[in-house]
Amino acid sequence: MAVPRRLTSAAIRSRKGKRFPVITAYDTPFARCAEAAGIDVVLVGDSLGMVVLGFDATTPVELADMSRHAAAVARGTSRAHLIVDMPFGSYEPSDADAVRSAVGLVKSGAGSVKLEGGSHVAPRIAAIVAAGIPVVAHVGVLPQTAGIGEGYRRKHDRSALLADALAVEAAGAYAIVLEMVDAAVAAEVTSALAIPTIGIGSGAECDGQVLVLHDVLGLYPDAPPFAKRYAELATVATDALRAYAADVRDGAFPPDLAAAASDVPLYAVGAIPRV
Ligand code: KIV
Repeated sequence: MAVPRRLTSAAIRSRKGKRFPVITAYDTPFARCAEAAGIDVVLVGDSLGMVVLGFDATTPVELADMSRHAAAVARGTSRAHLIVDMPFGSYEPSDADAVRSAVGLVKSGAGSVKLEGGSHVAPRIAAIVAAGIPVVAHVGVLPQTAGIGEGYRRKHDRSALLADALAVEAAGAYAIVLEMVDAAVAAEVTSALAIPTIGIGSGAECDGQVLVLHDVLGLYPDAPPFAKRYAELATVATDALRAYAADVRDGAFPPDLAAAASDVPLYAVGAIPRV
């Protein structure tokens, strides 16, 4: 059977003017769920640091963390385009550092990389694109430096945001994330650019929308107000674990081995159920 080809950045670029969903993922099981749900643009975000690794910011995330989790998401998908975040410190020092970091992420499975910043990172974007690696830009609230810099307040400065968006487009970005940008400004940026905008907390007029998986599934207690919860998986998981613990304490699990139907090891190759 022919293996389906992954969606390219050019295919995502051509979604300008069409609404499309993007979700974050960090591991193989949830990457499988995203693809089974028909979401074909998956962001391995450095939100990893907060929603999976338990930090209170994305700043501590290392390049090795992103590579490890990008590879796990790649193993759980076959068609989805994978955007992988370049973590704080992996692109700021020089164009050469930025290209080296981006190359490492591509080797781990990235179809494109994303980095935060406007005009000031345009040279980094141009250098990575010149190395043949597609880039997604990210303007508005910049989580990597928000805690040590401008904070998490919504961005309203129309001329600064437009200038940043046009600069990263001119540098070669094929798409741009707008995080917590005033909705009217996000709409104006969306019509000013030829590349798709992907909004998060930036209103309905962006081309695409992205949300953090753990916010959507009810797995992160501090989800931002703009994120919509579509499930309460933390509750489901806690209830399941409570039932398991009670069964062990009561002797209801494990069942009597003599009465068990089969001796086949549960984790025999091929026995692990696929979503
Ligand atoms: O790291 C991340 O998940 C992101 C999204 C918030 C866009 O950059």
